[in-house]
Amino acid sequence: MVVARSLRRNNSVTWVVAGLVTIVLIFFLLSPSAPSPSLTAHRRQQDAAEHSLSPPTKPFLKKSGRGSSSGKRTPPPVVRYNLNELNSTASPAAAGEHVLILTPMARFYREYWDNLLKLTYPHELISLGFILPKTKEGNAATAALQAAVAETQSGPVDNRFASVTILRQDFDSPLESQDEKERHKYENQKIRRQAMSRARNSLLFTTLGPATSWVLWLDADIVETPPTLIEDLARHDKPVIVPNCFQRYYNSSTKRMERRPYDFNSWQDSATAQELAKQMGRDEILLEGYAELPTYRTLLAYMAADEDSGADPHLEVQLDGVGGTALMVKAQVHRDGAMFPAFPFYHLVETEGFAKMARRLGYTCWGLPNYFVYHYNE
Ligand SMILES: *[C@@H]1O[C@H](CO)[C@@H](O)[C@H](O)[C@H]1NC(C)=O
Ligand SMILES: *[C@@H]1O[C@H](CO)[C@@H](O)[C@H](O)[C@H]1NC(C)=O
Repeated sequence: MVVARSLRRNNSVTWVVAGLVTIVLIFFLLSPSAPSPSLTAHRRQQDAAEHSLSPPTKPFLKKSGRGSSSGKRTPPPVVRYNLNELNSTASPAAAGEHVLILTPMARFYREYWDNLLKLTYPHELISLGFILPKTKEGNAATAALQAAVAETQSGPVDNRFASVTILRQDFDSPLESQDEKERHKYENQKIRRQAMSRARNSLLFTTLGPATSWVLWLDADIVETPPTLIEDLARHDKPVIVPNCFQRYYNSSTKRMERRPYDFNSWQDSATAQELAKQMGRDEILLEGYAELPTYRTLLAYMAADEDSGADPHLEVQLDGVGGTALMVKAQVHRDGAMFPAFPFYHLVETEGFAKMARRLGYTCWGLPNYFVYHYNE
């Protein structure tokens, strides 16, 4: 903690506390060792790490015996990874591709976790990474998250995820309140989104492994997705792709559950926005969805067809900015250096800045106007 504090004084940004927890390990060791005949269980055994730190997020320890009785510890083996053979294909499950799901979390929603459990992509190919703030609220969320992880990772083998990493972020939360209203105030947005960029970068750079083919960013307040989310997004074979993020709500005049757009960060650029950007000071940023600053960009949110119109959920449109509520990225894009700028990058920050950076690296970003994920309704 002393180290963390002094780094913070030195204006070091994100200090990830030594809270790298691979809880799964413990539960595997404690769980009854009844041999499971299933194929995945066998694959998990094959996949087990010789050493608990190589690589750091592997959950399972191979039964050693070797050297343990003599008190000698054998060094971890050298593992070779050929990144040229690491693919991100349109049929990732068939190719055995590893997916890393990353979630910055301020609050734990049971619906988020339940939705995660329902994902049909083979769980032994999914690693989870979380980052939570070191605040009172963050502590509560961490406790709830750990309880959920413990429950799942000691449950049926096929439901268990390959590994789970939980990070705590030790810098002062820029805003006191996580309330919807406070969070969305225009003045607060720049500070909030720059802090979020740092959280995302810390999480990404700490967890991206040599076997990761895909990174799925999934916000903690996404409570409903199709169970085939990973397969559906991957099948488009795009470097960066986002579904449309909506919210369900009760309309008291129609007395029915309806839905409305939620995430306005996925868009196609406009001449107006580019003109605005030209006139801005170098540290100013353009934000979407605020009456104070109309950009006239074309928003993915408003490209959606009506709910029961039978529109093609796999319709693709190219985008210039993307939101991060659900965001599928080929790991290569991140490995090439695309991250979430915590500083104005072409007057953009966080996920919109990420889209710009991916573009500058030669990748294209895509959106699915008629494929939906749903945000929690506060
Ligand atoms: C990845 O794709 C390349 C070229 O198509 C292929 O040669 C290689 O075997 C693939 N790697 C894996 C692990 O499937
Ligand atoms: C509820 O439904 C009515 C009728 O369709 C609509 O005019 C109104 O905007 C809806 N309310 C909200 C809060 O969206």
